Amino acid sequence: MSKRKAPQESLNEGITDFLVELANYERNVNRAVHKYNAYRKAASVISKYPQKIKSGTEAKKLDGVGAKIAEKIDEFLQTGTLRKLDKIRNDDTSSSINFLTRVTGIGPAAARKFFDEGVKTLEDLKNIEHKLNHHQQIGLKYFEEFEKRIPRAEMQTMEALILKELDKVGTDYIGTICGSYRRGAESSGDIDILLTHPDYTSESEKQAKLLHDVVDHLESVGFVTDTLSKGDTKFMGVCQLQPSDEEEEEEYLHRRIDIRLIPKDQYYCGVLYFTGSDIFNKNMRTHALEKGFTLNEYTIRPLGVTGMAGEPLLVDSEKDIFDYIQWKYKEPKERSQ
Ligand code: TTP
Ligand code: MG
Repeated sequence: MSKRKAPQESLNEGITDFLVELANYERNVNRAVHKYNAYRKAASVISKYPQKIKSGTEAKKLDGVGAKIAEKIDEFLQTGTLRKLDKIRNDDTSSSINFLTRVTGIGPAAARKFFDEGVKTLEDLKNIEHKLNHHQQIGLKYFEEFEKRIPRAEMQTMEALILKELDKVGTDYIGTICGSYRRGAESSGDIDILLTHPDYTSESEKQAKLLHDVVDHLESVGFVTDTLSKGDTKFMGVCQLQPSDEEEEEEYLHRRIDIRLIPKDQYYCGVLYFTGSDIFNKNMRTHALEKGFTLNEYTIRPLGVTGMAGEPLLVDSEKDIFDYIQWKYKEPKERSQ
């Protein structure tokens, strides 16, 4: 998963920017996930609003904008700033912790711990490199590169390469590049790949080899350059395109790549979940519950009268999931909300 979210361009960029900044502050510094979600949701609905917002009252009519956020919007529209944000930005603790969490491998808890030990900057981190775990060391090594978004054209080149190499490992593999790329985004924060294979289902034994063969092969062709973690079903690492002959002047950046191996019967619930967006996923789950189903990244199951979930339903495409909950199918590019 990528750490940095692209600021959404919109008529109300000033508002959505401050909401995203407040969201990150709540998650990283206060570890208040609910507040983080509330700010993110408000930012997302406002970014889709087709008019320039003129008051908090106007914004409050949108689903996801409550009284407190409306008040902040008024303050921002009237004064051009937000006292709460000024305070956060000027606060050494908040700004340092926020900064440290930008390194992959450093979450809010580790950031707090480093800060308490006097570590605040990139320089400080370099000085205590030996105290970082492997994941954090790689995060530090590629800090600047991981901050850069991946242009869609580069994502397309990587997709073609990955699918071509996957076919060499085994023609039965099915692979999908999910995340913002699948939703048609102009740039992505990372590469999220889902893999499955007909031999692997939730009833069969674990088959870590199916994942490791792919990772080893992508390493052998020089595409995967580093490993952050490698389990039976999930690989997290780093990759880099090699320039083709015509572009020998060009150097591609190192990019974050996640590869997940999913049982065939759970593949489409996984593809749906990892295509996102996270806000779309939340809305779809809510709708599923209203229709009497519980939906997660693995399965969709009917809820009995007692609220107990039954056996997973058969799913052979993303559309099957939409059909069960009587929702009109949405193409990936329509799944931002
Ligand atoms: P991300 O890679 O974090 O998001 P993204 O691909 O949409 O955006 P980016 O370009 O910045 O990489 O996660 C991939 C998908 O996983 C996301 O679109 C939806 C799902 N997801 C959730 O539903 N909830 C979460 O909390 C996270 C982190 C991801
Ligand atoms: Mg992504």
